[in-house]
Amino acid sequence: MCGIFGYIGDKKTAPRMVLAGLKTLEYRGYDSWGVAVVPSKQSTNNTIVVKKKAGKIGDATVNDLPEGSLAFGHTRWATHGGVTDKNAHPHLDCSKTVAVIHNGIVENYETLRNELIKKGHRFVSETDTEVIAHLVEEYLKKFSVLPRDAAPAFSKAVQATFKDLEGLNAIIVINTAAEEMVAARNGSPLVVGFGHGENFLASDPAALLPYTKQVHFLEDDEMVIVSKGSIHIFHAHTGERVRPRKQLLTWTTEEAEKGKYPFFMLKEIHEQAGLLSEIASESPEQSILIAKELKKAPRVYLVGAGTSAHAARSASYFFSLVANKLVNYGIASEFDHRLSVIPENGALMALSQSGETMDLLEVVKKAKEKNIKIFSLVNVVGSTLWRMSDEHLAIGAGPEKGVASTKAFITKIAHLLLIAYAMAGDIKGGQKSLVRAAKATKEVTSKAYTQTIMKLAKKLKDEQHLYIIGHGLSYCAALESALKIKEISYIHAEGIPAGELKHGTLALVTKGTICMVFAPHDEHYQSTMANAMEMKARGGYIIGISDKNDDVFDEFLQVPDAGIATIIPNIVVAQLLAYYLTIERGFDPDMPRNLAKSVTVK
Ligand code: F6R
Repeated sequence: MCGIFGYIGDKKTAPRMVLAGLKTLEYRGYDSWGVAVVPSKQSTNNTIVVKKKAGKIGDATVNDLPEGSLAFGHTRWATHGGVTDKNAHPHLDCSKTVAVIHNGIVENYETLRNELIKKGHRFVSETDTEVIAHLVEEYLKKFSVLPRDAAPAFSKAVQATFKDLEGLNAIIVINTAAEEMVAARNGSPLVVGFGHGENFLASDPAALLPYTKQVHFLEDDEMVIVSKGSIHIFHAHTGERVRPRKQLLTWTTEEAEKGKYPFFMLKEIHEQAGLLSEIASESPEQSILIAKELKKAPRVYLVGAGTSAHAARSASYFFSLVANKLVNYGIASEFDHRLSVIPENGALMALSQSGETMDLLEVVKKAKEKNIKIFSLVNVVGSTLWRMSDEHLAIGAGPEKGVASTKAFITKIAHLLLIAYAMAGDIKGGQKSLVRAAKATKEVTSKAYTQTIMKLAKKLKDEQHLYIIGHGLSYCAALESALKIKEISYIHAEGIPAGELKHGTLALVTKGTICMVFAPHDEHYQSTMANAMEMKARGGYIIGISDKNDDVFDEFLQVPDAGIATIIPNIVVAQLLAYYLTIERGFDPDMPRNLAKSVTVK
C-alpha cells in the first residue's frame, strides 16, 4: 500500500525520474500523489520544494519543480486523514527543511502530535505521517550542535524518530543539510536499488527495473543511509552494520509495461494461456519437493487473503480429489484461532502475489513462533513472505500491475494442482492437466470469444446484482468471479454454493435476476442444473458456463472441458466479463476505487 520512490545521484532531473517511478507504482495507491525535491541551486531560504495533489497522477508533470539530484515521491492510499492536497505526502517540518514519505500507520501519533504541539510545532495536515517530520526536526535540534555535524545528526535524528513510532511503518526522510535519504522499515516493504553514481529506494522492486536489477530488501528494523555513492545499512536499534544481501531482479522492463493493451488487467488476462504452458513444461522439482514435505505433515493449512484465499480454497479441493489428502484452508485475517491447533510438525502454506500482505505476514510470524514449517507460493521473489519461508516456490507470473489479481491467481492454482499431482505420485498427470487448461484458456481469450463476452457485458452493464453458483471447484470459481466483478465494475456479485441457494438466497431471485451458473460436466453436473432450474423457475435469467449448452440457459458461454483444471478457463471467462463490464460502465479496471495492490496495513 502506498507507492514510494526515491532517487539520489548525478542527474539533475530527479523530480521527473521520481514522477516516472511513481507512475509505475500507482497501483499501490492512487488517492493522491506528491514529489519533494532538494533544489540543486539552493534558494535563499534553503527549503525543500513540494508538489502534491489529491487524485490520480494521470498526465501530471513536475516541470514546475526546480531541478535537483535528490528527490522522492509517494502515491497515497489514505489511512489517517481525508483525501486532500494537504494530506498527500510528502510532509514537511516547520522549517520546510525536512520532508518525509511514509507507508504504514503511526499508532501513537496522537500522543506524539500533542507533545509536539506543546513544543510549538505547527501542523498543517490531518495525517499521522506529519508527526514524523516534526519529530525529526525536534531531534535535529538536539543532535546538530555544530553545522558540520549536520549529516550524522540527520541519520541519528531519523533513527531516534523511528524508535519513537509505534505500529508497522516504512519511512524515508530527506533534509536540505544532508545529501542523502535516510529510510527505516518495520512491517511495510522497502527495497534499496544499487546504481552507478546513483541509488534508489522504492516500495516495490518493479519500479526499479529501468534503472537497476541489484536490490536489497530491507528487513524489519533495518535502516539505510542512501547517498549517491554509497549505501549504508544498519540495525535501527543496535546500530550494528548489516552487509547488503544483494539480490538480482529477474523481471524485465517490458514485462512491467502495458504494451499494446489499454489496461494492465487485459494484458495480464491474455498472458495466462502462455504462463500455463510454461508451468506445464518447466522442471517440477520444487513442486515435487514441497509435495513430499506436505505429505509427511500431519496437518497442512493453506492460507491467503482475497484472491489468494480463493486459491487456497481451490487447492484444498485439488488435494482431496487428486491426492486423497485433507488439506485445510483459511483466510489470513480470520486465521488466528486455528493457529493454536496446528501441531509443531504441521505445515502452513502461505499464498501471496506480493508477499507483503500484512494479514498474511502476521499469521506466518505467529506460526514461526510455534515452529510450524512455512511453505510459500509467491510472485515477488525476495519479498517479506519469500524471506520468511522455509521453502518457497516462485509462481512466475511476472509483474502483476492490475489491482485485481488475475494471472497470479491462475499461476498459483496451476502450481498447486501440480503439487497435488506430485503428492499422488503422478506429476505427469498434473502437467497434462495444465496443458488442457492452457488450451482451453487460449480458446476463451480468442478474439471471437472476447466479442461474445463484450456483447454479454453490454447487456448486463446496468444490473445491480449478480448471483453466481457452482458446486465443488466451481463454487471456488463462483467466489473468485464474484470478487472480480465486485471490485472493478462495482456491481454487487455473490458467489454461492449451488446447493445452498434453497437455504436462503433463493428468496432474492425474482423475474430477471441475473444468475451465472458454472456447470462443467463433472460429478456435480446434475445437481448444479437442478439448482439452476430452481432459479429459472423463479424468473432468474440464467447464464450458463459449461462445455455443453442446455435449455435452462438463457445465455451460454462455452468453456472447453479441462477435467479438474476446468476451474482455470472458467475463471478466465469471469475475469474477462468483469473487465468488459467495467469498461462498459466507464470505470478504470486497473485502479478500482478504495483499493490498492499489496495491502500492507491491517
Ligand atoms: C483481488 C486481489 C486481492 C489480493 C489480496 C492478497 O483481486 O487482488 O484480494 O488477492 O489483497 O494479495 P496477495 O496475493 O498479494 O497477498
